[in-house]
Amino acid sequence: MNLLGFDGATLQDILPFLDLADEFVDATGKLITPRKYRDALAHHSIGLLFFEPSTRTRASFELAVDRLGGYPLQLASESSSIKKGETELDTCQNLQAMGMSGFVIRHSDRDILPMLGKSLRVPVINAGNGAGEHPTQALLDAFTLRRALRRERDLEGVTVLIMGDIAHSRVARSDVAVLRALGASVRIAGPESLLPPDGLLDATSFTDRKAALEGVDAVIVLRIQRERMPADVIDEEAFIARWAIDEEVVRDELPENAFIMHPGPVMRGVELTSDVADSDRSLILQQATNGVAIRQAVLLKCLKKEI
Ligand code: CP
Repeated sequence: MNLLGFDGATLQDILPFLDLADEFVDATGKLITPRKYRDALAHHSIGLLFFEPSTRTRASFELAVDRLGGYPLQLASESSSIKKGETELDTCQNLQAMGMSGFVIRHSDRDILPMLGKSLRVPVINAGNGAGEHPTQALLDAFTLRRALRRERDLEGVTVLIMGDIAHSRVARSDVAVLRALGASVRIAGPESLLPPDGLLDATSFTDRKAALEGVDAVIVLRIQRERMPADVIDEEAFIARWAIDEEVVRDELPENAFIMHPGPVMRGVELTSDVADSDRSLILQQATNGVAIRQAVLLKCLKKEI
């Protein structure tokens, strides 16, 4: 089974991933791998092909494969034959011929992943495709929120704000789809130039930070994705003045029990100050931990290795 995106997903599409990932995190939030899963991917090699930079997604998939007893084959595009002009499809077909059981792929071109998903015989997992989708990030965000709010199933009655650069964000696109499927009410907020056209996302749109934060259970903060926009689209100083979350915003505008989340990488001092990113309200490092558990669940489901 491929995992390319969650556009149009239902509750039943999402819950199995979250429920399986629950088996890989203990009550204190630490990673565990029950004995029955430790060889689930024995004799399976998974190709990790990152044609764009990554820290969290790449490392957590590598750890997830390792924790399930598989072999993570890392292919760095800078030192591969892609540099000589080989296509991504030829690269994957050659690795498939060597016995890969599946691929985890990140690419700046949003059309490459669907094409590879159709062309390859083994499962393809989207690790981020341009401004398209980042489905495993959305799963780990929903999983983190479900645990933080002590929910056992869905997120009915929960309000989540996604704030910052929405227009260029694959995380926003997947988060909206997954959170809505779980029954959450989803808001988006940011400068007009960084919001998508009306109706593109199933979320209520705000251009005022204070109004957007009112009554939320969590805010997912996104960085400005400069790699996907012309240099002059956004004035950073103006963005910080209007949208950055600092201690004062937390004190005056964020509801008392609301959590702060960020997929990373965090631009400290731009969308979040360090004291807020490192505060007790922040779930950022728990998101990183949970990313390993979610990717273990995704690998098992996509490769049909559930036990
Ligand atoms: N959240 C996320 O995708 O981080 P990386 O780019 O470091 O993988």
